[in-house]
Amino acid sequence: MALRIGVPAETAVGERRVALVPEVVRRLVQQGMEVWVAKGAGTGAYFPDAAYADVGARMVSQEEAWGTDVVVHVQPPSEEEIALMRSGSVLIGFLSPLDQPEVADRLARQGVVALAMELVPRISRAQKMDALSAMAAVAGYKAVLIAANLLPKFFPLLTTAAGTVRPASVLVLGAGVAGLQAIATARRLGARVSAYDIRDVVKEEVQSLGATFVELPFEVPDAQDVSGYAKALAEEKQRQQAQLLVPHIGRADVVISTAQVPGRRAPVLITEEAVAAMQPGSVIIDLAAPNGGNCVLTQPGETVIHNGVQIVGPLNLPAEMPVHASQMYARTLLAMIQEFATPEGFKPNFEDEIFRGVCLTYNGEVVNERVRALLAA
Ligand code: NAI
Repeated sequence: MALRIGVPAETAVGERRVALVPEVVRRLVQQGMEVWVAKGAGTGAYFPDAAYADVGARMVSQEEAWGTDVVVHVQPPSEEEIALMRSGSVLIGFLSPLDQPEVADRLARQGVVALAMELVPRISRAQKMDALSAMAAVAGYKAVLIAANLLPKFFPLLTTAAGTVRPASVLVLGAGVAGLQAIATARRLGARVSAYDIRDVVKEEVQSLGATFVELPFEVPDAQDVSGYAKALAEEKQRQQAQLLVPHIGRADVVISTAQVPGRRAPVLITEEAVAAMQPGSVIIDLAAPNGGNCVLTQPGETVIHNGVQIVGPLNLPAEMPVHASQMYARTLLAMIQEFATPEGFKPNFEDEIFRGVCLTYNGEVVNERVRALLAA
């Protein structure tokens, strides 16, 4: 019997993405796998059931989709959803391992082999499986569009019969995946863009996108760890950094903040003083809102107005662009499935750095050390 891959519908509030799009289902079916898609799973992302059926998927109930050999999903599963899974089956998706370790515990007790897409190592061989980066790019783009929409000014320089309009100033804090996409998008809309990151290795990338790199008179020896991520700053350094950013933030019409250090609360870069320095009508889009925010005034999931400054704390921008977000996510899942499964079955491989990285539960145990430590605490 061929390996069965299941695509249940997402049930989390506001989630409109679907784990596999028809184009990717077609590839899996061509490779000899069976794909069972829950009826309506693609509706939120504008992929109708017929589009899946056309490429060879079998349309099933939600229970049947959860009962397959390899279940692929976007959001961490609920207790009820986990209870529908068979012992020895595999779940691949965002599992929020560090924020919701109890999900891993529950999956282990169900005997599920869970692979967390958040844990894909940032190495070149794993790039095609890097779902977080794919979603961060969507978020960086969308953040700029939201800002442009809220800002009571033009983004581009305009020369009109009514005189010249100066371009908006956009400051991007954190020039990782989301930040670089935000820079590129703001540039395309004609804004004057500057960006700051603690890792000065990104300076050239920022400049190549036509933005100015902000350099602070502030020493950070080895800001980057071996995996290419930023390291957390000591508290005093963080305060000093936020203080030095105040005049730069004060001059910006729009601030897009994306700074993060994996597994930690987001660093505070935008203080109340910095918000007070901004003009009324200015906009802050705080992409770090799910991790507590880069701005002290951010309310995750809300928009707050402080002295006329609009501070937006979106929690799930990829769900607002479900067509391409689903397509990109599905391609990362396809790469993961092709790496560790054949039509004959799923092939765990603990010799492989990527598998060791993503494997969260195995043989009834939580195998990721950080998550184990969180559960023990
Ligand atoms: P990334 O790791 O590629 O980039 C983060 C950047 O922040 C890095 O370049 C890092 O050097 C920088 N950074 C860290 N500490 C800093 C500090 N103290 N000062 C200045 N820069 C600092 O991360 P990615 O993939 O770009 O994601 C960025 C954020 O966007 C994350 O917080 C992620 O959770 C969030 N995100 C939010 C979404 C939403 O809908 N709100 C959707 C997708 C991602």
